[in-house]
Amino acid sequence: MFKNLFVTQPIKAMPSVIDGVASSASVAGEVTLKRALTAKHLVMLGIGAIIGAGIFVLTGQAAAEHAGPAVVLSFVFAGIACAFAGLCYAEFSSMLPVSGSAYSYSYATLGEVVAWFIGWMLILEYLFAASTVAVGWSGYVNSLLQSIGELAHMNLALPPELSSAPLTVVNGAIHTTGALINLPAVLIIGAISWLCYVGITQSASVNAVIVAIKLVVILLFIGFSLQFVNTANWVPFIPPSDGHGHYGWEGVFRGASIVFFSYIGFDAVSTAAQEAKNPQRDMPIGILGSLVICTVLYIIVSAVMTGIAPYATLGTPHPVVTALESHAFPSWFKILIEIGAIAGLSSVILVMLMGQPRIFYAMAKDGLMPPLLGRVHPKHQTPYMGQIIVGIIAAVLAGLLPINVLGDLVSMGTLLAFATVCVGVLVLRRTRPDLKRPFRVPAAPLICVLGALSCFGLFLIAFKDNWLWMSCWIILGMVVYFGYGYRHSKLRVRS
Ligand code: ALA
Repeated sequence: MFKNLFVTQPIKAMPSVIDGVASSASVAGEVTLKRALTAKHLVMLGIGAIIGAGIFVLTGQAAAEHAGPAVVLSFVFAGIACAFAGLCYAEFSSMLPVSGSAYSYSYATLGEVVAWFIGWMLILEYLFAASTVAVGWSGYVNSLLQSIGELAHMNLALPPELSSAPLTVVNGAIHTTGALINLPAVLIIGAISWLCYVGITQSASVNAVIVAIKLVVILLFIGFSLQFVNTANWVPFIPPSDGHGHYGWEGVFRGASIVFFSYIGFDAVSTAAQEAKNPQRDMPIGILGSLVICTVLYIIVSAVMTGIAPYATLGTPHPVVTALESHAFPSWFKILIEIGAIAGLSSVILVMLMGQPRIFYAMAKDGLMPPLLGRVHPKHQTPYMGQIIVGIIAAVLAGLLPINVLGDLVSMGTLLAFATVCVGVLVLRRTRPDLKRPFRVPAAPLICVLGALSCFGLFLIAFKDNWLWMSCWIILGMVVYFGYGYRHSKLRVRS
């Protein structure tokens, strides 16, 4: 029964790819995704996906509870692991410009069951991340309403019953909180899903505006705050370990596994490869360009944050605002930062909600997901059925679950996908050395091995605390694969 589990998909069989070169349609008469995105759009998409809840929410917790001022080092380590993976994504996406990202790369190199596994992990990265970030978005919107209400001497904040999760998880058990629904989180998922449904060009244009707002706000934060940096706050740079995984070098690495979340998203650029005008040239620019810009910003922002306020005070849901509150910043500046955070979180939700249906689209084309998910809208040229289904599931999760439940799961799923892509580059170099590679990973064996090891290492650090949830997700994935994907795989029918 289990024969061909590791069958690999020939590159020529991939939709819209002929020997690594993008073609407009692989099947005559088929409606395909629209090629509309330039290098600039792709860099903006990357930044849109990357800067979000990681820097605006998790940096403070990582500094306060794990790394202290050395959260800067956590960012450096997580950034190095992502740089290795980013180079591998750049090689793959310029060579195989398809929408399925790590899923398609695994199918071409490591076989169907691995591809399925990675596709399943990518659901954590995209769909669950969209919900997680939407919950953060809701928190910032409520905080903004409160700030504006304070200025106007009114109470504008939504009641907790309508702005927080009705379910929570304590010590592995699910409890109710008394709240009804996280309404703003549901509404933002609905609004952005509609935008993605309408078209890729509109989505990219709206994304560009949002990205510009968040970049300006982050630069203003850095510019205004520099004068308040007190170098005494950086001492000791690595606080001594308390023996329970907090601080010391162990804390720096646990911090890296947490702030890794901040980097998630550069790979989302690769899901738009089938909609890029010149993917061979522009995918590496989009992936690596956005990664470099965000890494530099993260290192500076985390240094400034821990420089203007003692790290122990930063463990709040709004650490950037908390850091500002330790000095006499005017309230309009706080509101500006809140608006920037909301913009940042919105664009992450946008790119994640855009990416997931495109991965489902690729899986449906291969028969591993129901054909419904492969339908493209005749007018908008978007994978509209996938978009609707993803929107509904993401809205339900965002409406019911708190932000902390899924954060580590999102990172773990992504880390496994990154490690697999690093291995995949090496495998394809060996199995298909003839393929044209517009971008090549330099010193490939070394970079790919270091990339796989560093991503897997960060995965293991987070797995220690979350092994039960992750194991359940993997088992569920295998049930769905053998229940549906294994039976309907088009490759298996062909072979
Ligand atoms: N990198 C994205 C964020 O930080 C997922 O929100």
